[in-house]
Amino acid sequence: MHSNSIAGFSKLPKKDKISWIRDHFVSVGSDPEFEAFWLKDAQLQKVIDGFSENTISNFVLPYGVAPNFLIDGEMYCVPMVIEESSVVAAASSAAKYWMNKGGFKTTILGTTKVGQVHFKWNGASHILKNIFTQIEAQLKFDAKHLTTNMESRGGGITSIELIDFNDQEPGLYQLRVMFDTQDSMGANFINSVLESFAKSLENFIYDSTLIDDAHRDIHIIMSILSNNTPECVVRSEVSCPIEMLGAPDQKGIAAELADKFALAVKIAQIDPYRAATHNKGIFNGIDSVVIATGNDFRAVEAAGHCFASRYGIYRSLSQCEIKDGNFRFWLDIPLALGTVGGLTALHPLAKLSLAMLGQPSAEKLMSIVASVGLAQNFAAVKSLITTGIQAGHMKMHITNILNHLKATDDEIEQICHYFSDKTVSYAAVRDYHATLKR
Ligand code: MEV
Repeated sequence: MHSNSIAGFSKLPKKDKISWIRDHFVSVGSDPEFEAFWLKDAQLQKVIDGFSENTISNFVLPYGVAPNFLIDGEMYCVPMVIEESSVVAAASSAAKYWMNKGGFKTTILGTTKVGQVHFKWNGASHILKNIFTQIEAQLKFDAKHLTTNMESRGGGITSIELIDFNDQEPGLYQLRVMFDTQDSMGANFINSVLESFAKSLENFIYDSTLIDDAHRDIHIIMSILSNNTPECVVRSEVSCPIEMLGAPDQKGIAAELADKFALAVKIAQIDPYRAATHNKGIFNGIDSVVIATGNDFRAVEAAGHCFASRYGIYRSLSQCEIKDGNFRFWLDIPLALGTVGGLTALHPLAKLSLAMLGQPSAEKLMSIVASVGLAQNFAAVKSLITTGIQAGHMKMHITNILNHLKATDDEIEQICHYFSDKTVSYAAVRDYHATLKR
């Protein structure tokens, strides 16, 4: 046994877990600064503990809001959970900017989700294809107890396809199943159905008279949803006459801004190094709303980056067009989101977020999230091609630096004032703080 290792940690009561950490990691146990973080077993904590394992504390992130989002004619104040300074400020300012130009318009391009059963089988694909109608009927029949409820809500299985991978791996096949999961993200539903399909398929191959005895050798490899959801996509867009991009007396500047903006987006279409950063800016907005509403940001990221590579090269998720004197900027993004089930019903702050958004359907939430991603992208690119991002970024960062330096409220006020027309850097703030203290 290694020192500081333990067997059965997960079985310990929480107070013993905490004692074990404090006893074995002395710098943690002896530092009074950490004392406040150890959890007490309050009722709310029991709910939060239920989401994960071995919980000993909660990792707190700022929960902010970006007001003035006009999306499809409705106003929203959007909750955002993010630790990076400037993101909420940038989303809010882009929301206000576009509110006065008609706001964000969205279109749901699809809501289909995908699941897969991967299996090996020792026969030629035409044999399975010939009896696939019977197989499909059996799989659906056996999974009825799982699908009835979803069907009564208007969703369910929309299609099942047999995919032959023999050219890449002898005997490898896949059932590719398409789902409509209505307002739920649907991960549990999809995975349960897929596991049922896998069992039924195995039984069919073992027992059916439609299969000859030479072909009863089937091995299920795995059954799991796919986080690639290129048919669960929403478009959010903004547009306006070019001259509206600048102040009324700045027509020339507006045209220059539009051209430079379109070029910046084009660079992210051409170059994956820029595309990754450009898309990261989009996900600053997207993830923060996805987290605030209790959705799965890893799933959303995986789908988004996969979608960004759909043409064989990693590209910008957003696009820009200047045509007939009009500026148009849009984002197509896959978003597998839920507004019922999962954490949405359990996490008290996810409930607050959904209430603030007016209890949206999953489709409406897709529209809101995509619009925040587009707003974020607009704000980032606009500041990159004009002032640069460091000015705004470091101004907000100054408070973090000063908190780290344990500056008093008075000092913070004085130092913020001093740096209002100067370049902010950690060293400059530290040195000026030291001068004040002296
Ligand atoms: C920083 O978190 C995000 C940006 O880098 C995005 C971008 O470069 O477009 C500012």
